[in-house]
Amino acid sequence: MQEYFDLQAHNTFKLSARARYFCAITDVQELRDALQFARARNLPLMVLGGGSNVLFRKDYPGVIVHMTNRGIDIVAETAEAVWVRAASGESWHGFVEYCLHASLHGLENLALIPGCVGAAPIQNIGAYGVEVKELITDVEVLDAVTGVIETLTCTQCEFGYRDSIFKHNLHRRKIILSVTFRLHRSPCINLGYAALAQALSGIADPTPQQVFDAVCAIRRSKLPDPTVLGNAGSFFKNPVINREAFAKVLQDWPDLPSFPVAVDNDRNSVSNWVKVPAAWLIEKTGWKGRKFGQAGVYQQQPLVLVNHGDASAADILALAEQIMFTVAQQFGIQLELEVQWIPPRSSA
Ligand code: EPU
Repeated sequence: MQEYFDLQAHNTFKLSARARYFCAITDVQELRDALQFARARNLPLMVLGGGSNVLFRKDYPGVIVHMTNRGIDIVAETAEAVWVRAASGESWHGFVEYCLHASLHGLENLALIPGCVGAAPIQNIGAYGVEVKELITDVEVLDAVTGVIETLTCTQCEFGYRDSIFKHNLHRRKIILSVTFRLHRSPCINLGYAALAQALSGIADPTPQQVFDAVCAIRRSKLPDPTVLGNAGSFFKNPVINREAFAKVLQDWPDLPSFPVAVDNDRNSVSNWVKVPAAWLIEKTGWKGRKFGQAGVYQQQPLVLVNHGDASAADILALAEQIMFTVAQQFGIQLELEVQWIPPRSSA
């Protein structure tokens, strides 16, 4: 257990903040010990993976456990599919590459997403037409109160757009140990996302490797590399609004793009809802590429806020508040955060 631990290298925004206590966890016993340590001192505990979706508003007063548990195992197979279990501390992109090289298909569209495997179900990561919930069969968790290991099915995870039960009823209650995916033995190419289809339009029958390469190339061209420019990917979610609200905005902004919301168990989704690109809204407010102190709006993708050097959390928050205010004023649409603020915005 390390004290007053500097978190700058553990958050992709590269913000300065310290954890009162910090420890790297490699197995369940160490995790149970850390939980006991926090309980004995009546301190809050939070789990940190790659730190790629968090914004530390200030020092964390409790215990941060950094998951570094490793392991990728095949747990079942049939003629068509292979069930692969990956430990929560595995790098997400490393896992996607591993599966590609093992000819286990389905994850190619999710290449190059920063962070670790354990974070993937929490926000149901998604990109280029695929959401991870489509491939997850179950999630192994440790109950932070009872210490019991349990398995949650995909349905029990209540996945939605950048959402799951781990952000709601089970927030801080269950700690993800591993995730099991059902992958395909045969290539299953998904070119449903326009930008990806366009990138591969010259290839008649793209291979999973070509899809993987194209996704990496698009991401590299649009999204800032966090090792070069601090950021946490999309700072806001794409707003999901009902058709009446959409029709109202269209009166003033007839070229507002929209995307159908995927149906099934999404929290908000019925055919009455549409998703509108936050990047478009932010661009129209004029914030694209602008700087506010050392905080900025990324030129190639205004959904991403960046740290141009030594921005403080307060700089980023002030910029985010202004963007949200302007978008609400101009379009009557409330942007929702995609990045997790720690502590949450509601608390002091
Ligand atoms: N757009 C603009 N101006 C821009 C960029 C985009 O108007 O400068 C509009 C365009 O209408 C474009 C639309 O936004 O068609 C969508 O843009 P893009 O394909 O870049 O995707 P996005 O909706 O902005 C989402 C995810 C990304 C994911 C991409 C690709 C969210 C919050 N973000 O962004 O995820 O990589 O789709 O699937 O859903 C992340 O979660 O951190 C993340 C990067």
